[in-house]
Amino acid sequence: MKLFIDTGIVEEIRKAADWGIIDGVTTNPTLIAKSGRSQRDVITEISEIVDGPISAEVIATDSDGMIKEAQELATIHKNVIIKVPMTEDGIRACKWMSKNNIKTNVTLVFSGNQALLAAKAGATFVSPFIGRLDDIGHDGMDLIEEIRTIFDNYGYTTEIIAASVRHPTHVRDAALLGADVSTVPFNVLKKLFNHTMTDKGIAAFLSDYEKSSK
Ligand code: E4P
Repeated sequence: MKLFIDTGIVEEIRKAADWGIIDGVTTNPTLIAKSGRSQRDVITEISEIVDGPISAEVIATDSDGMIKEAQELATIHKNVIIKVPMTEDGIRACKWMSKNNIKTNVTLVFSGNQALLAAKAGATFVSPFIGRLDDIGHDGMDLIEEIRTIFDNYGYTTEIIAASVRHPTHVRDAALLGADVSTVPFNVLKKLFNHTMTDKGIAAFLSDYEKSSK
């Protein structure tokens, strides 16, 4: 499974990229706002750090406006992926972009039918929001499983990004269910490294080594 980092904070991307396990980056208007910088500046800097898909979201809500923004964002770098919302206009814009060689990520996906429409419109990626489904009492992982089945039934090549990831269990479960990608906030990425038994094991090895070297 590919691991993307879900942030607009360039310092976090730099640190995670340094670990050598980051395949791409996702941003959204909320994450860019948290950075306090312009979207163009943030995406430009990210493209100098990570050589992989970088999602940048449009603000327009009409398909013509989305396409105009997409054409501008696509000039930043060849790795820029245009994130469009799962609406009628978003799907229309996605179809146009897929015909015009602009890669897309259909976001705010909360049902198998929405994912099916995105795949039919030629989306490169689809982003089901698992954490936000958990928040309203659903099981977000059911949606990952549903979309995996639908795409596999018909051979759609649209990649599934498990998004709205809140904890390490989400990452493990997305991998078990066959999501193509998990996009993970920096604080959750850091937790993926940890296990108390690893810490205990290292402490025991070091203490045994010190005893034997005396
Ligand atoms: C990623 O593409 C999404 O924008 C992001 O994962 C949303 O996460 P949230 O539900 O924690 O805001």
